[in-house]
Amino acid sequence: MLSEQSAATVRATLPVVGGAIGEITERFYARLFAARPELLRDLFNRGNQAAGTQRQALAGSIAAFATYLVDHPEERPDAMLGRIAHKHASLGVTAEQYALVHEHLFAAIVEVLGEAVTPEVAAAWDEVYWLMANALVSIEKRLYEERGGNEWREWEVVGRVEETSDVATFRLRPADGRPAPDFRAGQYVSVQAELPDGARQIRQYSLSAAPGSPVRQISVKRVVGDAAPDGEVSNHLHARVRVGDRLSLSAPSGDLVLGDTDAAAPLLLASAGIGVTPIVAMLGHLVDTGHEGPVLVVHGDRSPTEHALRADHEAYARKLADASVHFFYEAGADDAEASHRTGLVDLADVAVPRGTRAYLCGPLPFMRAVRAQLIGKGVAPADIHYEVFGPDLWLAQAG
Ligand SMILES: Cc1cc2nc3c(=O)[nH]c(=O)nc-3n(C[C@H](O)[C@H](O)[C@H](O)COP(=O)(O)OP(=O)(O)OC[C@H]3O[C@@H](n4cnc5c(N)ncnc54)[C@H](O)[C@@H]3O)c2cc1C
Ligand code: HEM
Repeated sequence: MLSEQSAATVRATLPVVGGAIGEITERFYARLFAARPELLRDLFNRGNQAAGTQRQALAGSIAAFATYLVDHPEERPDAMLGRIAHKHASLGVTAEQYALVHEHLFAAIVEVLGEAVTPEVAAAWDEVYWLMANALVSIEKRLYEERGGNEWREWEVVGRVEETSDVATFRLRPADGRPAPDFRAGQYVSVQAELPDGARQIRQYSLSAAPGSPVRQISVKRVVGDAAPDGEVSNHLHARVRVGDRLSLSAPSGDLVLGDTDAAAPLLLASAGIGVTPIVAMLGHLVDTGHEGPVLVVHGDRSPTEHALRADHEAYARKLADASVHFFYEAGADDAEASHRTGLVDLADVAVPRGTRAYLCGPLPFMRAVRAQLIGKGVAPADIHYEVFGPDLWLAQAG
């Protein structure tokens, strides 16, 4: 909890710090990577750094946390902290690294705001930082304990399937022969790829099949940059990784998982594009556990041939006792298929039962549109859960 004295100072300086936070985090990263270049090479996503997206996510989360503290002094923004902690835990972030981030972040604050950073202002923001850092460290500690450490493990590629022209599935088995750790449908792993220049870049990939098999799978879309450079890791995996090769994986992380009480609730599982991966794993899990309640299955894609994991998506929906399927394609919808529609995902004609719990994964414009429609249909905002396949620019609103 923020002390009363610091709360007043933070409230008074939020506009100044909030207004400069983009510049502060830019200076922060420049300082951090000048002091510790290996962090940019082997821990942070250098594509996100180049594109500036991670900067916005970090800045947004600190401003959101400070705002939350002054508005709700007795509470904690658990959804936001959980999401960040899961991401950190999938990357192997350590408690000791928070002091390093603190050192460079506060030097950047002084560099940008100059004399406005009086000792009182510095002390108040120091308190905010450590409240957030300690909350994250304690969640990350619990996550590491649950999975028996934060070690990377080698996995052997035992199968590769070309799902569509730009999505490939990699089936993986622990290379050391020990059992694969448990996970929950919807979770992701971090994959550490050794690139030609020696960098070990890390990216997250959702596990795209339900738990319960000794073989894990991820399904990776090749990111084509158009004007920007092509995605580094996705193209590396597509071009270089074959059956018999090894990949280094973190333990499963992520909090977009079906809740324990969802068995009794109507569910909506909505995806678009490669966002299908965690959703198909969840559907597979519902089939495996004999789920009987109503499930709305919604997906948007450019066309049926570009709909990755479509066969599994359809087969699982068919096996469920009470599923209704709505696939929206921009082109190529099959008029003979009752579940096919032409156009972008639109729930206007879809009946959404009272008390529905929704799980969304796909590009932000898709999730914004679906979320707005669901709220319009009476779904409680707290029952709408989502996963973003990149730095979460929604965090600032997610509280
Ligand atoms: C929780 C989670 C789950 C995910 N699950 C999946 C999944 O199941 N399947 C899947 O395919 N993906 C998934 N992703 C996305 C995945 O982690 C990667 O982000 C994706 O594969 C792209 O990585 P990359 O290395 O190929 O691209 P990067 O090299 O990281 O590039 C990312 C973007 O930045 C742009 N960029 C790079 N350099 C610059 C520059 N200099 N200037 C401007 N722009 C630049 C690129 O053009 C590209 O659009 C998931 C992400 C998260 C966070
Ligand atoms: C209070 C301190 C911190 C805050 C508020 C914070 C906040 C964030 C946020 C908001 C994200 C994006 C989460 C998402 O994907 O949605 C993130 C990702 C990340 N954080 Fe932190 N973080 C902190 C400390 C640290 C530390 C100590 C490290 C280790 C040096 C670290 C390393 C990373 C990395 C590597 C990523 C992923 C970056 C990427 O994909 O480019 N963070 N953090």
